[in-house]
Amino acid sequence: MRFATLLAVAAATVGSAVAQDKTFVLGFNVGASDADGKAKTQKDFETEFKTAKTLQGAPGNFTAVRLYSNIQWGTEKSPQPIAAFPAAIATNTKLLLGIWASGTDNIDAELDTLQKAIKQYGSKFTDLIIGISVGSEDLYRVSEPGIRNKSDAGNSAEAIVKFIKSTRSALANTALAKIPVTHVDTWTAWVNTSNSAVIDNVDFVAVNAFPFYESERENQIANAGSLLSNALTATEAAAKGKDVWITETGWAYSGPAFGNADATVENAGKYWKEVGCALFGKKNVFWYTLRDANPANKVKFAVSDNLDTKPRYDLSCPTKVDLPVASPMSSNNSTRPSGSPVNSASPSGASGSPRPSGSGSPTTGQPSQATGNAPGASSVSIVNSMAMALSVVFAFAAFAL
Ligand SMILES: *[C@@H]1O[C@H](CO)[C@@H](O)[C@H](O)[C@H]1NC(C)=O
Ligand SMILES: *[C@@H]1O[C@H](CO)[C@@H](O)[C@H](O)[C@H]1NC(C)=O
Ligand SMILES: *[C@@H]1O[C@H](CO)[C@@H](O)[C@H](O)[C@H]1NC(C)=O
Ligand SMILES: *[C@@H]1O[C@H](CO)[C@@H](O)[C@H](O)[C@H]1NC(C)=O
Ligand SMILES: *[C@@H]1O[C@H](CO)[C@@H](O)[C@H](O)[C@H]1NC(C)=O
Repeated sequence: MRFATLLAVAAATVGSAVAQDKTFVLGFNVGASDADGKAKTQKDFETEFKTAKTLQGAPGNFTAVRLYSNIQWGTEKSPQPIAAFPAAIATNTKLLLGIWASGTDNIDAELDTLQKAIKQYGSKFTDLIIGISVGSEDLYRVSEPGIRNKSDAGNSAEAIVKFIKSTRSALANTALAKIPVTHVDTWTAWVNTSNSAVIDNVDFVAVNAFPFYESERENQIANAGSLLSNALTATEAAAKGKDVWITETGWAYSGPAFGNADATVENAGKYWKEVGCALFGKKNVFWYTLRDANPANKVKFAVSDNLDTKPRYDLSCPTKVDLPVASPMSSNNSTRPSGSPVNSASPSGASGSPRPSGSGSPTTGQPSQATGNAPGASSVSIVNSMAMALSVVFAFAAFAL
């Protein structure tokens, strides 16, 4: 009995310490362009950030956003700070900054633009920053499944490590000197030991995981919690004790099915309740997403229509929801035609990525590849890849159709 009491006290102490010491981030992913591929203005960003905070029935305050670039869409020739910065200041929105790092051998324009913003906006800006990600799914895009699926330009672990170092040194004498630095990638990239140098060089690990796209597994909605749990557990096991943030997860509400995953409002709502509610307040989470941005992409994720504060499905959370306990990963490809994707942790190959140019130059933006996977989406494909159009989705869409 005494032992049991001790255990209870210990458990309570641990529980309350966690509850008191940490407030977890609730946020959404935010691309740089709108649904027509146009640059979002400050007003567009403000509307988006305000909607995030006033969603009806939300289980908490979505007061943070994750960006993909520091550079305002369309200003690549003379890079200007993204209009999301003043919008965040106006709406008191926390920022996980992003540096676009694919298809390039330097990130100078990103870093110069960030320096410019620090000078221009000062502490009103820097006080809102909770982290900075050097790259987004670059490692996935150069991996075997990423390449197989023509997922656009990526970058190597060596390049990402080099960029993380240049980011730290560029920020060393600024108000952001102590800001935690990360890299965002798919769980399949994090568990790949070829990439372990990246884990060594980040302050925390940021993972994107989408059971919806895991068509090589039994990815019907009923298994979504298990798949996410497995992905998260595998990432945590690879993370060398570092904190793991979930930077993209969500379920499509419309569009083609992937494997056994049906894109329906009902399933998107279930995923929110069974997976989202199990993560909110326990992990730092950036949901995918509040606003879709690509008319050519048939798979849609937005929680509400057109930034309405009324969601498509009930956002309230039951008091206690836990993810299923993770089980060893097993790939069941018995229902998979050969040649179909074996990865795809994410819709965001080129992601919510406002692929700023430099990296988005026509030569590396390779419209032909994206087009190959998305017939009919050709001319928009570069723009799309920079907005919320996901080349992985294109590849999969081509497969599913
Ligand atoms: C969100 O924040 C506002 C103001 O800070 C507060 O009044 C409200 O209760 C919060 N909502 C939730 C769901 O926590
Ligand atoms: C692991 O990473 C290496 C280096 O990027 C890549 O070549 C390989 O395809 C990756 N493996 C898988 C299974 O993604
Ligand atoms: C693989 O999927 C098939 C078809 O859904 C199922 O019957 C079988 O039990 C699965 N096998 C494993 C090992 O999960
Ligand atoms: C999975 O697919 C590979 C290659 O198509 C095949 O060799 C293997 O037997 C399959 N495994 C299962 C469990 O179906
Ligand atoms: C990528 O995946 C699709 C869908 O399964 C497949 O048809 C295609 O062959 C893959 N791409 C490449 C370059 O292998």
